[in-house]
Amino acid sequence: MVAGSSVAVEHPLDALLADPWSTLRLVLGEPLHPGGLAATGELLDRAGVGDGTRLLDVGCGAGEAVAIASERGARAVGVDVAPGADATGVVRGDAGHLPVRDGSVDVVLAECAICLSDDLDASLREARRVLVSTGTSGAGGDGTNGRLALSDVVVEGTPPALPEPIARTLCLTGPRSRSRLVERVEDAGFAVGDVREHREDLLAMRDRAASRVDYAGLLGSFGDRGRRLLEGVRELERAVEDGRVGYVSMVATVDG
Ligand SMILES: C[S@@+](CC[C@H](N)C(=O)[O-])C[C@H]1O[C@@H](n2cnc3c(N)ncnc32)[C@H](O)[C@@H]1O
Repeated sequence: MVAGSSVAVEHPLDALLADPWSTLRLVLGEPLHPGGLAATGELLDRAGVGDGTRLLDVGCGAGEAVAIASERGARAVGVDVAPGADATGVVRGDAGHLPVRDGSVDVVLAECAICLSDDLDASLREARRVLVSTGTSGAGGDGTNGRLALSDVVVEGTPPALPEPIARTLCLTGPRSRSRLVERVEDAGFAVGDVREHREDLLAMRDRAASRVDYAGLLGSFGDRGRRLLEGVRELERAVEDGRVGYVSMVATVDG
């Protein structure tokens, strides 16, 4: 080493925050949404996904839902800005610019993903664009209007204070109340059907994360920044418990 030179040592927290998805995968495992594969199956049921349904999974991650839909006989493809390395049936793409023709899809699935887009309203309009409408583009593969099957985090009031990359990854930024999310889906051209709360799934996910990672031990070893982050994590746990942070799913049908 040259005398007087210095080597910049990255703070371990910066390494974790630089790639929040890998950090989250480490903490939660797959799939990355409350309720796991059972919730995916239930949402596919509600959206009427079966034999011949043309399905696009937006923000599909490792592609588990694509696999489940394919097992049902759907023609399923996933899109993700950063697809899992071994994901099959998945192409790289952004929710705001889907690589799909107008009116060519029966169901857009977006589990814990679409609220991550830089412009949620544009991404919802994009979902509407690719969905079939019996009014304008003829019947879909299953003869019905296109459906958006969406699940995402909702926040009532002020979200817990967490570093920006983590808050963004956990969908805790921006206007995120349940009623606002429904309004935004409607404004994009959908009629929203039943909206379901998944409080138990969210609590189970919190418990799973806590059983996999010793937050207090890990973050406590990172000095003041680690302690502040731990306070944010504890605040998030309280927000989940008292319902300020929730998780909802809905099936919305193309309106018109
Ligand atoms: C919480 S994970 C959910 C993954 C999967 N849907 C699941 O439930 O397991 C969010 C996914 O959305 C992807 N994502 C984030 N922003 C995106 C965007 N603008 N367009 C497409 N995918 C995006 C991420 O790469 C990540 O794989």
